[in-house]
Amino acid sequence: MKGKWMHSVHKRLATHLSCTSSPDVTKEVYRCRPWDLYHSTKRNKIPGMFPHFVLPSCLLPNGYISSQTYNGKPILLYRDSESGTVKAFLNKCRHRGAQLVGAHTTVKLKSRAIVCPYHAWTYDIRDGSLKRIPGEAEAFSCVKKEDHGLIPLSCKEVAGGIWVYGDAMKEVEDFSEHKQVHIEIEELLDLSAESFSMGRMVGTKEWEIDANWQISVETFLESYHVPSLHKNTLNIVTQANNKTVPMVTDHLDGCDIRMTVPLQNFDATLYEENAKSFVEQFLSSTTTTYFLFPNVSITLTKRFAFFMSIAPRHDDVSKSKISAWAITYNDHEEQMNLCQRDLEGVVNGVEEDWDCVEKIFKNLSKDQISIYGSYEGNNIKFLNDVKNIATHFVNT
Ligand code: FES
Ligand SMILES: [Fe+2]
Repeated sequence: MKGKWMHSVHKRLATHLSCTSSPDVTKEVYRCRPWDLYHSTKRNKIPGMFPHFVLPSCLLPNGYISSQTYNGKPILLYRDSESGTVKAFLNKCRHRGAQLVGAHTTVKLKSRAIVCPYHAWTYDIRDGSLKRIPGEAEAFSCVKKEDHGLIPLSCKEVAGGIWVYGDAMKEVEDFSEHKQVHIEIEELLDLSAESFSMGRMVGTKEWEIDANWQISVETFLESYHVPSLHKNTLNIVTQANNKTVPMVTDHLDGCDIRMTVPLQNFDATLYEENAKSFVEQFLSSTTTTYFLFPNVSITLTKRFAFFMSIAPRHDDVSKSKISAWAITYNDHEEQMNLCQRDLEGVVNGVEEDWDCVEKIFKNLSKDQISIYGSYEGNNIKFLNDVKNIATHFVNT
């Protein structure tokens, strides 16, 4: 049954709201030296070993091309106008490396020919093959066109988005598997949406911040900080018990996590006699965030899906880049104002996080010891999962 997990999550949220303890989270206190974790060049390589969330699927309609970045490199995405499949290539000409399409451009192609702006070498975007070299007979007679197509990248569409990945991840996990987290997100998008593929963008934003990527990820793994740091933003729409905003957590696929918090209209007595109305009410009275290890979050809010990817910038342990997109569940225009109002609240909240983590990172000292308590079990899990991957898969 679709959304079966919601019933157990609802019960556990109701319990959290009525009592002071949180049975879901660890009871142990964990101490660590954050300097070592956040300045580790080994740990910094981990996001590059996993699939990179590049773009929500609905932002690349059939026959469109989009220039994005993957691991700091410019790439091209193209959705075939007939088959609807997506292909990814480096956005780089095989002649002398010119960028073929300008940064952050998404356009409908009039033809399948991509012409390099520098000397007009021409490629077929369907398979990246090199079709034409001006002056070929005189200047490049020894160059085999079939060996000089665009460099392809592996890509896949799951969980409402387009993901690009390199060879390094093959050692860590098999991305050909459809993971539990992907199935759940796709089911949720189906339940929330008449047609998520018709979703519209409410907004998109990028931040470049002066802090390690792990510390930024950690901000959305716990809700303990919501009543204090987000007092006037996210806390206004959530429901707290007498300690904090409760969050129900489940671990999926080993390192991935589902986290649900109750909104103000959460009804602990919601009766399950009608499965359809239960699901509708559950979705409109909670917010669920999926953490896709190591650095992507997908949050299903009442009115839109919020995709966020956090990556190290230029191999620098002290800088990260965050990309976010908010996408409606359908193409209805009339909800747009409410969506934009909600998104403003989310962005204000997220910027409170970035401001906080930049200051923490700036003031880190080598001998500092951080303590994680029972509301921060996901953070402990994340830091340990990063450690395990770094130990077993990252060569120095
Ligand atoms: S660099 Fe592209 S045609 Fe010369
Ligand atoms: Fe936060």
